[in-house]
Amino acid sequence: MNIHTVATQPFDDQKPGTSGLRKKVTAFQRRNYLENFVQAIFDSLEDFPGSTLVLGGDGRFYNRQAIQVILKMAAANGFAKVMVGQGGILSTPAASCLIRKYSAFGGIILSASHNPGGPDGDFGIKYNTGNGGPAPEKVTDAIYAGTKTMTAYKILEANDVSLDDLGETQLGDMTVQVVDSVADYAELMESLFDFDAIRSLIRSGTRLCIDSLHAVTGPYAKEIFEQRLGAPAGTVQNGVPLEDFGGGHPDPNLVYAHDLVEVMFGDHAPDFGAASDGDGDRNMILGQNFFVTPSDSLAMIAANATLVPGYKSGLAGIARSMPTSAAADRVAAKLGLDCYETPTGWKFFGNLMDAGKVTLCGEESFGTGSDHVREKDGLWAVLFWLNIMAARQESVEAIARAHWQEYGQNYYSRHDYEEVASEPANQLMENLRALLPTLAGQQFGSYRVDFADDFSYTDPIDGSVAMQQGIRIGFTDGSRIIFRLSGTGTAGATLRLYLESYEAQVSKQGQDPQAPWLS
Ligand code: G1P
Ligand code: ZN
Repeated sequence: MNIHTVATQPFDDQKPGTSGLRKKVTAFQRRNYLENFVQAIFDSLEDFPGSTLVLGGDGRFYNRQAIQVILKMAAANGFAKVMVGQGGILSTPAASCLIRKYSAFGGIILSASHNPGGPDGDFGIKYNTGNGGPAPEKVTDAIYAGTKTMTAYKILEANDVSLDDLGETQLGDMTVQVVDSVADYAELMESLFDFDAIRSLIRSGTRLCIDSLHAVTGPYAKEIFEQRLGAPAGTVQNGVPLEDFGGGHPDPNLVYAHDLVEVMFGDHAPDFGAASDGDGDRNMILGQNFFVTPSDSLAMIAANATLVPGYKSGLAGIARSMPTSAAADRVAAKLGLDCYETPTGWKFFGNLMDAGKVTLCGEESFGTGSDHVREKDGLWAVLFWLNIMAARQESVEAIARAHWQEYGQNYYSRHDYEEVASEPANQLMENLRALLPTLAGQQFGSYRVDFADDFSYTDPIDGSVAMQQGIRIGFTDGSRIIFRLSGTGTAGATLRLYLESYEAQVSKQGQDPQAPWLS
């Protein structure tokens, strides 16, 4: 066995963001850039030699090359086994599923989520811990600290491993097991949802359109919807993962999933539409001429959860990220459940789920999930909706309207100001912070300010504190305005403005008729 210790210099830009390290592909292609970060991950871990690592990515450009490097470094650093998805493919929720199912030490997921791919696009790498979830801040801080002092990394000199054939090969003392990317995940979905009921919903004529946006969920969606649930071939569109996502932006929202939006808001629209993002953890849910906001989706899933076999005994609690609308809070209150408001980013849900305090979690940014894994899960949300439709024998719109009638509607919109200059963006936040003490109690038209703060969160399990997580201005009727700076951008700053207005009157509820996708 030939293990090399390669001398290297630290890079000064390897601070992991909300979801790992995300940079342009060209940044990752710099000599030793990936290697340094991977070594910093391994150096941050304790007692892993002899254990198993899960490895895979969303199939974007540089996925295969990075996997070969990581395999050889894992072998040199003492892992006994790496389970890698066939062709290097694993969706983020599928990776989380594998880590948990096979009690792996952790996993490395290669993805820049919904960011564009290709040689000029983005690449990313993140580490997930043994619970299947994103590394907590103390781990990512240790990784970052390691990158700043990195002087050498270890790598095995060996030929590349074939990623296309299922089965085991040896890499030095380490076993590489190429696993079916879809099978374990699909089995988990079958254990949670009533596939028979969904199958008969489809058989009785409910038409679906599932858009994988040329990203990782293609093979998962084809297996689940077209094979196991019997939907006609062609139900999954843009279902072949491409290294550049076909030049698109694999983000399941009304702007970027435009093919799907055209179908669902066009003539003869199917009954149900959904899209997933680059790595399969996000989802967008559409009915015929109808958009379900992600915040509403979380609330509606929660309200109907006991209709679904995997959740029939009820929920432990619900968590939502701070900018997510308070629609879920109203469901939690009615069901007598605890509801947690956490900072943005899935990693804050992990402790709550591990401690059994919450079952469902969601973010306004098209992320929904439960304690079945420790990541948000796009296709899981799609199956949840189909299961609810099958159980209630109602359309998406009927389910939504009934929900608003019962709980009131939280009208919601988010506005993103992307790639703005960092300095004025930071200044704007500073100025807002300075204004906060003057806002409480002020009246603006019919709205009275109830509270105004810079959100901070103390984790109820480990006591860790996250400060300055966004400016919240809450009004006495439950409406809110929120400002925050993104933690995932790769250029300049991104300012996000979130607006939420509560409407209890049924006659005023519905989709905003001015919504651009309706015209
Ligand atoms: C964005 C979303 C956030 C999500 C994250 C990773 O982060 O707003 O909800 O968890 O992507 O998918 P942001 O860019 O706002 O920091
Ligand atoms: Zn994603």
